[in-house]
Amino acid sequence: MLEEELVYLDYNATAPLASEAAEAMSSWHTPRAANPSSPHRPGRQARAAVEDARRAVGEIFSAEPTNVVFTSGGTEADNLALWGAFGSSPKGHLIVSSVEHPAVLEPAAALETAGVEVTRLRVDEAGVVDLEELELAFRSDTRLVSVMAANHEVGTTQPVEEIAKLARAHDVIFHCDAVQAAPWTDLSSIAACADMVSISSHKLAGPVGIGALFVRSGYPLQPHLRGGAQQAGRRGGTEPVALISGFAAACGRVMRLRDETTPRIRLLRDSLEKALMEQIPDVVRNGAPGARLPNTCHLCFASCDGNALVARLDLEGVAAASGAACSTGVPEPSHVLSAMGIPPELRGGALRVSLGYESTEADVARAIQVIPESVEALRRAGVERVS
Ligand SMILES: Cc1ncc(COP(=O)(O)O)c(C=O)c1O
Repeated sequence: MLEEELVYLDYNATAPLASEAAEAMSSWHTPRAANPSSPHRPGRQARAAVEDARRAVGEIFSAEPTNVVFTSGGTEADNLALWGAFGSSPKGHLIVSSVEHPAVLEPAAALETAGVEVTRLRVDEAGVVDLEELELAFRSDTRLVSVMAANHEVGTTQPVEEIAKLARAHDVIFHCDAVQAAPWTDLSSIAACADMVSISSHKLAGPVGIGALFVRSGYPLQPHLRGGAQQAGRRGGTEPVALISGFAAACGRVMRLRDETTPRIRLLRDSLEKALMEQIPDVVRNGAPGARLPNTCHLCFASCDGNALVARLDLEGVAAASGAACSTGVPEPSHVLSAMGIPPELRGGALRVSLGYESTEADVARAIQVIPESVEALRRAGVERVS
């Protein structure tokens, strides 16, 4: 529990800032000016901090500092990967999965408008891409495959190594959005087989507004944001030293805590899910049972409005989500649930509960107390309205 009376169960939206990250940032929150590209002493100190942080972020991929390009977050890392692969006169063929985050799907759509042909791979009812369909999708002009490591809504993980193998066999670049996987997955195994991997600091309990793209050695990345010569010309713009330092501290914390935290969180998530499935009738659990993030529980309740449920839980002091935070206010149903073939009457009753490193048994106990009674109350109110 993070604050008295608030049970925060929305870590897939963002994680609370870790104290190590806040501390690493605080030394840069001074009136002293320090542009890491300046040759004077404060500039050199800032440069040293940026390069130390680049080394620390590289370690989460078991990679060299030169493999890390800092961006403003996961969205920019994904845009850099896609636009960077096609360059300034985009043509050829791009393959993405239909359940990617908008940070991949939107640049894919923009590249399509600019002249790239795009194949959107279907997924099965658990949200997993079909490797045979991927194999058939390759063409002689395919430049890039972009498939996420783990889905932000339902938590389903993709067969990243197999996808990478197929891409390599066809001499096609492979980008993997590992923004949601990063707190729970060994990123070295992804970086070992992908050309580019996106991560975002705030999902790792680092500050918002910073992220990174891992870029394989020798990969000729084209810049997307053009400007100064920072980051070897791969991403122009003065590096934000405080954010980068906080991000590096957050990566260090994840590497230190991930292995011991993951089994505890998986048990908590499983006990929450079991209790909700037992106590609430007409509920469907989404995501691949054997291949999903250990922290995510995604359920659809029949005859219950997901947004109303989240609002009611909020009043009860439980912060959860009905879908991706970036889709709040978007009237269309979730593209992830649609791609998985979840029927419309269930899609509207979605609830995503996502745990994080700080989640406790008490948090889960409170969720088990309030979610069933909230669903029941909303269903009862719905019946009364109709009758
Ligand atoms: C899978 C995935 N990719 C990309 C992003 C975008 O990251 P950011 O919020 O850092 O721009 C998110 C954010 O939710 C995400 O879940």
